[in-house]
Amino acid sequence: MRRRALFLTALAVSFVAVAYKPATEEYKSWHHVKSMVIFDKAHPLYNPFGGIHHVYANDKAVNTTKEGDGRKFQDGSVLAFLLYEAVESEGAYVEGKKKIEAFMVKDSERYKDTGGWGFFAYDGNGKALVKDMKKDCFSCHAQVKGKDYVFSTYKR
Ligand code: HEC
Repeated sequence: MRRRALFLTALAVSFVAVAYKPATEEYKSWHHVKSMVIFDKAHPLYNPFGGIHHVYANDKAVNTTKEGDGRKFQDGSVLAFLLYEAVESEGAYVEGKKKIEAFMVKDSERYKDTGGWGFFAYDGNGKALVKDMKKDCFSCHAQVKGKDYVFSTYKR
């Protein structure tokens, strides 16, 4: 019985480890890489990325975001993409509701089919959005293979 309980616990832990979802908005104390406002419906990324977004990198990732072509992020690197509604208010765009919280997690063994990156995303209520990392995310990020599949560069 005890062995079975141990086995089930191990199984549960291994499942939990698969999806990346921080319990808090801890990425807000990581390193800010860049921000962008996509406000024009004609922009190719308006759907689904219309709004105000910010990109953050954790300690392991930040130095590599400053490099360009040929860069390689080390295992343990995490990048976060936070998208809020852009609400027009008295001549300004301010952050509205959170629309998407997305993450790229580097583990070159586990995610070798998607360039070594695990892709995870949630809507504003925390509902998981990714069904197929390859189709939903990697297919587009593959455009920037030369930058290790990461679009954003930290401007100095
Ligand atoms: C249609 C193309 C496209 C798709 C599909 C897409 N992304 Fe992105 N993603 C981008 C672009 C472009 C950026 C850079 C935005 C910027 O320059 O501010 C980006 C940025 C990111 C970043 C910040 C690191 C970086 O590459 O700059 C993360 C994390 C991210 N996306 C995760 C995801 C996840 C998870 C999915 C799947 C649900 C996904 N993306 C699907 C185009 C895409």
